[in-house]
This record gives sequence, C-alpha cells and structure tokens, in this order.
Amino acid sequence: MTITTVSTIKELRSILDGARADGQRVGFTPTMGFLHQGHVSLMEAARQDNDLVVASIFVNPLQFAANEDLSDYPRDLARDTELSQGAGVDVLFTPDVSEMYPFGPVLTTVSVGEISERWEGATRPTHFAGVATVVSKLFSIVGPCRAYFGEKDFQQLAVIRRMVADLSMPVEVVGCPIIRESDGLAMSSRNVYLTPEQRAAAPVLRRALDAGLAAIENGERSGPAVQAIVAAMLDAEPEADRDYAAVVGAGTLAPVNELSGEIRILVAAKVGRPRLIDNDGLVVGA
Ligand code: PAJ
Repeated sequence: MTITTVSTIKELRSILDGARADGQRVGFTPTMGFLHQGHVSLMEAARQDNDLVVASIFVNPLQFAANEDLSDYPRDLARDTELSQGAGVDVLFTPDVSEMYPFGPVLTTVSVGEISERWEGATRPTHFAGVATVVSKLFSIVGPCRAYFGEKDFQQLAVIRRMVADLSMPVEVVGCPIIRESDGLAMSSRNVYLTPEQRAAAPVLRRALDAGLAAIENGERSGPAVQAIVAAMLDAEPEADRDYAAVVGAGTLAPVNELSGEIRILVAAKVGRPRLIDNDGLVVGA
C-alpha cells in the first residue's frame, strides 16, 4: 500500500474515523523526523500489532528551550516518507506549527511532576511539559489503541507512561528497545551534529554503561559505587563533558543505594554540540 501524507487535523481525523468505524485498531508512532532505524523499529512494531499505522513528524517548539536547536533541527521529509513507507506506515501526519498551535502559545499544558524533574529535567526544566503536552494533543488527534516509544529516551517513556496512567488515557504505551550503530552508539537524529573526532569518541557512553553493568554482574551491589565507575569512564574521554551518570530504579527513576530489582543506568554527556543520552538495565536478583 502507498503511504498517505496529510498535514491537517481535519484530513487525518476523517481517515481515522472511517478506519475506527470499520473496527480497525490504530497504532501510532510520534516522531520529530530525520528518521533512522530507531524510529523505523517503532513503526515496524506498530505494523506488527495493529491494522492501521499512523506516524507523525512534528518538531515541537514547546519542548525546546530558547538556547536549544529548534531552528536548525535536521529535516528531510522526502527521505522520512520513504523510510516510513518501507516500515509499513499507512498515514504520515506532518502538521506545521500553526496547525498544531493555531492560537500561538498554548494556555493548557500537561506536566508530569516529580518524574520530570531529575536527570534530563534538571538540565532541561521545561522539556518534559512540552513533550507531555504535545503527546497528549497527538493522542487526542490520532486516538490510537497503542503508541510506540523508544527506551532510548527512557525518562520520556516513564513520563508518558505516568501521564497515561494518571489521566486514564485510553492508549497502551509500548516501549521498544534501543537501536544502535555497530560500535554501540545509540542512533539519534542529533548524531549528524558530531564531527568525525566526536563521532569516534561518542561510543564512550555505551562503554560506560557496559562497565557499570559488568560491575553489577560481578557482584557490586552499591549504587553509588556503580555510579562512580560509570562516571569515571565518561570522564576519561576528553571529548565528552558528563552531565550525569545515575543508577536508578527502572520504575521511579530515583537513585538506588542497595541494588535490587529492576535497575537502570542512565548517562548524559555533551560531545561537541549535541548532548547525547543513553541507558541500559538489568534485573538484580535477591
Ligand atoms: P524523536 O527524538 O524523533 O524520537 C521519536 C521516538 O523514537 C521516541 O519514542 C524515541 O525514544 C525513539 N527513538 C529515538 N532513537 C531511538 C533509538 N536509537 N532506538 C529506539 N528508539 C529510538 O522523542 C521525540 O522525538 C519527541 O519527544 C516526541 C515523543 C515525538 C514528542 O515530540
């Protein structure tokens, strides 16, 4: 089937109302475009589970702070359309800013309290309210049964899960594994900003996570000790400027002292212009 691209809410709703009336289940993958295999994996998962697959491409101004890269966020709609079609997307929704925010600045926002405040939220205090607001708006527009998000943005996934639970939104949130380059760097639209030297240094995030996981597998049960190992690995790379290394409970994202249960290690570092984030986890038995 060929992909249909629509840029207005009205056109999208008329397609989706018809599909739902026919009993079709709608799967949804929100993105900001400049797609890579990470995005494609979410679209493929949506294709597997649903009758109709919608993806959106919208670079959402609400989630960028004034000093961030909104104006030059990378874009390539022709390539994105090809990749979406290849992944089995039926409808690509590509609204412009005036379609999404016709009255200018929104008066109604969604913010997800404590879980938004640490880690990414500490450096980007308005970011997750911008994400939660646009995702709830997109859910209202698309009305999906299931929506697909990457574990790459682990805190974002936790924020969305909590928003959906708190507001009883009728959508199942599906988390999908991180897709990586062959040297371990997590795929990201922002990796194009890396110079060759920075690109060569960037897999240090993956190596730092591996060092932390290896320490736990070898019996280390102190969260702060694991955190120190991960931080030291990041700090040994001159191209990387560490923002945080954290050892947290996978559900709460709060730091854990005595490791047990589902643990996630989260890292963020500036490597040249982009801030890179990555994470990995494991279950620590009793
Ligand atoms: P964007 O950065 O384009 O990412 C869209 C989705 O792709 C997110 O769910 C993200 O976690 C996932 N993703 C990105 N890189 C990935 C990788 N290497 N492996 C697996 N999944 C990956 O995240 C956003 O856009 C926005 O905040 C959005 C949710 C669209 C709201 O504006």
